[in-house]
Amino acid sequence: MTTRIVVGIGGGVAAYKVATVVSRLVQQGKQVDVVLTAGATRFVGPATFSALCGRPPVTDVYDSRFPLGPHIELADGADLLVVAPATARFLGSCAQGLADDLLTTLYLACECSVLMAPAMSSTMWEKPAVQRNVQRLLDDGVQFVGPTRGWLSCRKQGLGRMAEPEDLLAAIDEKLN
Ligand SMILES: Cc1cc2nc3c(=O)[nH]c(=O)nc-3n(C[C@H](O)[C@H](O)[C@H](O)COP(=O)(O)O)c2cc1C
Repeated sequence: MTTRIVVGIGGGVAAYKVATVVSRLVQQGKQVDVVLTAGATRFVGPATFSALCGRPPVTDVYDSRFPLGPHIELADGADLLVVAPATARFLGSCAQGLADDLLTTLYLACECSVLMAPAMSSTMWEKPAVQRNVQRLLDDGVQFVGPTRGWLSCRKQGLGRMAEPEDLLAAIDEKLN
């Protein structure tokens, strides 16, 4: 049976790297559904992911192509939910169980494993509130890949860089096998 992965993309500069991840997953024969947050659409375009996946990305909770709601239909039968970059906003909403957009609602609706790749400035990542949210999600069974230390888009070196596409793909592979 075809492996089905839902890739959620958050609003950070690192979103452009997720195109590589999606392309590689599709080349591996996996069915990939992409969900873009409102923030993500400011960084990457739906046309890129439509073409890479052969299916349009979903951005709206009330998308009429999904009579049961995209959060229900995309979660149904998914093998893995991957969120990259996972923003501070997304982590906070998930940690609190808030269904405040499509991606957080989908997270709550998913029965499959969840892999998150956070990305943000080191100041944001090290903020106690963010670390509390990460700990809560770890306690809830979410798996994390990264962040790593390195060049950040705020033009500083620090901890908060999203895992590289290769590392994300390796973590996805490990999770699926
Ligand atoms: C240039 C720029 C880069 C940003 N990068 C990040 C980031 O790497 N991580 C993060 O958590 N927020 C980042 N933000 C802020 C988010 O885009 C903002 O909090 C947004 O509400 C996140 O929404 P989303 O989680 O729905 O995508 C950035 C904002 C701008 C303008």
